Amino acid sequence: MTTQTRRKGLSAPKHEQASVLGTLTPEEFLRDYWQKKPLLIRQAIPGFGDALPRDALLELARREDVESRFVAHDSTEWQVTRGPFSKAQQKRWKGKWTVLIQGVNLVFPFGDQLLKRFNFIPHARLDDLMVSYATDGGGVGPHIDNYDVFLLQGTGRRRWRIGKQTDQRLIEGAPLKILRDFQPEHDWILEPGDMLYLPSDWAHDGTAEGECMTWSIGFRTAPAQELAAQFLDFLQDHLADNSTITGRYADPDLQRQEHPGEISEAMVRKVSELLRLIQWDEALVRDFLGASLSEPKAHVFFDAPEPTLSLAAFGKRVKKDGLHLDARSRMLFAQGAFYLNGETVVAPPESHAALISLADLRELRASTLAQEAANTPLFECLYDWYECGFLHPGT
Ligand code: SIN
Ligand code: CO
Repeated sequence: MTTQTRRKGLSAPKHEQASVLGTLTPEEFLRDYWQKKPLLIRQAIPGFGDALPRDALLELARREDVESRFVAHDSTEWQVTRGPFSKAQQKRWKGKWTVLIQGVNLVFPFGDQLLKRFNFIPHARLDDLMVSYATDGGGVGPHIDNYDVFLLQGTGRRRWRIGKQTDQRLIEGAPLKILRDFQPEHDWILEPGDMLYLPSDWAHDGTAEGECMTWSIGFRTAPAQELAAQFLDFLQDHLADNSTITGRYADPDLQRQEHPGEISEAMVRKVSELLRLIQWDEALVRDFLGASLSEPKAHVFFDAPEPTLSLAAFGKRVKKDGLHLDARSRMLFAQGAFYLNGETVVAPPESHAALISLADLRELRASTLAQEAANTPLFECLYDWYECGFLHPGT
């Protein structure tokens, strides 16, 4: 376990966002800490604090299209309620409570910008940005997440106690997962701008010291069973579309059986041979990952722009102002295939550089687009995505 302090006057190369890792390089962080051990970085983002005022966060908790939770506790009991919440409900929140908002990066442009500072972890690993507000003493209790998380302190102070324990037994009957016997090994108070990185298997308990807000940049670790189940779903659709398995079970060589109730070995053999035709390769796994990891969350819907520019007007506009992905868009790429919000586009090689840049930076500068002729496959592809509401003119 290490504490990092930001070196004064350290400035990032021009093309990169300023580091959030104190004196560590991304390579050092990945080598020594990522999924290995916690790291406390004092003043990871100096001056970070009130980007999202409390009232704006409470307003998010009232929205239908935003996932929110309210957690309260006294000395004996925990209470959890899922949002959206009405203003009247919020007025009744008393005592030690916390409200947690998932997917803040999807609805609050500053959140999307903040995530760019974590670009040293691939986008394919990102889950979302959660922001919580708590009253004095509020928190969600000691627990273990299936996320790697950067806990960035916004306004106020929070006490974090953490420990690596094998005892994962939970308090029975509690409405959220709270460890029965939490054994903390470290205890820190985080101030605005401080950040704690926690690998997924570390137990932790954050308690607000006075009112406070915490920003959690979460990287989900999918259980192997879940990945396998999702892949089998994908494979099923793939087989339906491009089947190498045709015809039907046939047994013109059927022999009379001694027991009509028995499944014969001949039948088992025939079906085994048929199932052996179900095959996949890394190209299919790549497409599975691209489609599933770029799939928007269930409650996300995109709106077509109103009014919609013509292709020519769109070309003119983005050559002047550039373009950016919608905050809810997820874009990835691999080996010349581009995945945006669950859709796959195999783009011609001359458009790769621009599309890779869009996937990496989530925006394309006017200067990148200025040299392109407006009717190239790149513009046609960008225009399709613009019409779907996946990206917008301007940076
Ligand atoms: C919080 O922000 O209150 C909880 C974050 C966490 O423990 O993962
Ligand atoms: Co947690």
